[in-house]
Amino acid sequence: MIQMAKPQIGDDEKQAVMEVLDSGILAQGPRVKAFEEAFAEMCGTRYAVATSSGTTALHLALLANGIGPGDEVITSAFTFIASANSILFTGARPVFVDIDPRTFNLNPDLIEAAITPKTKAILPIHLYGLACDMDPILRLAEKHGLALIEDACQSHGAEYKHEKVGSFGTGAFSLYPTKNITSGEGGMITTNDPAIDEKCRVLRQHGMRRRYYHDELGYNFRMTDIHAAIGLAQLKKLSKFNAQRQANAKMLSEHLKGVVVPHVPEGQTHVFHQYTVRVPDGKRDALRTYLQEHGVSSEVYYPVAVHQQSFYVSELGFKDTLPGTELSAQAVLSLPVHVGLSSSDLETIIAAVNDFDLGR
Ligand SMILES: Cc1ncc(COP(=O)(O)O)c(C=O)c1O
Repeated sequence: MIQMAKPQIGDDEKQAVMEVLDSGILAQGPRVKAFEEAFAEMCGTRYAVATSSGTTALHLALLANGIGPGDEVITSAFTFIASANSILFTGARPVFVDIDPRTFNLNPDLIEAAITPKTKAILPIHLYGLACDMDPILRLAEKHGLALIEDACQSHGAEYKHEKVGSFGTGAFSLYPTKNITSGEGGMITTNDPAIDEKCRVLRQHGMRRRYYHDELGYNFRMTDIHAAIGLAQLKKLSKFNAQRQANAKMLSEHLKGVVVPHVPEGQTHVFHQYTVRVPDGKRDALRTYLQEHGVSSEVYYPVAVHQQSFYVSELGFKDTLPGTELSAQAVLSLPVHVGLSSSDLETIIAAVNDFDLGR
């Protein structure tokens, strides 16, 4: 069976972990610092703050931008639940704006109508590895004095007009094992703002500026040196991994028939955390079953948009209608695109999709 993901853990990662274990410094030590510095350099930001997950990175990024009870944060509902839940953790409320169904990212043309006196931030999500259309989002954030928090959890190294995602506002990345690079579990916050950097560091460690003096409510969102050692070894391979994913995606896009292949707008790069096609005419689930029977895994990211999750409807009273989001949830299918695929795996995926009767 060709799997959806295969973490690329080699001798470098194993050796790095052994060195940490031998060093006796296991949590938030020199490897975390080195990983933060290298990540900031990759991203082109002044600072990076390591956390325990992408979710905790988002949570701290929002808190550090002053988001709290009574505030509204504009975002997309076509995402992993953590993007919206992290807004809820702060006491704020997500306000969902529809996506552009060609890119699956926030449609910037619809944002301004959603801004109210309570709006404090825009949280664009660079979904599947494709950078959002940032210029109009930046213009709106500036015009209305809103914070910008980028959910870059799926898009390490992706660029908008030659600038890396995570460098436009406060960035939040996930280092979960299926991501383009991993630390096992882990997250990273990126920023150019020294005040945001400092706030994230303090909140990550129980609101502590001086040892055992606690000025505010904080958390334990630290990263271990074991995770950082893996992440640091992986970060060195990010460009190579992204290039391989892009080559795999190119091969798929050139040969797949009957499905709508990913659209990459001019000036935006796609690092293909997921390779997601749109399957026409309600045939998505049948194609998925067919692929499974022919040795190819696939996945639906995401079958239920956030505003339609039962908790959001019954507990939080969301009643939005988001046509682009809802149609996409019915039609999308992600195919394997990871670095561990061989040419023959790619041929198998292409043959399986093309052999299925899509009514062409
Ligand atoms: C878009 C998005 N946001 C947030 C997260 C949360 O990251 P983590 O699983 O590391 O907490 C993920 C992870 O899958 C994600 O895909």
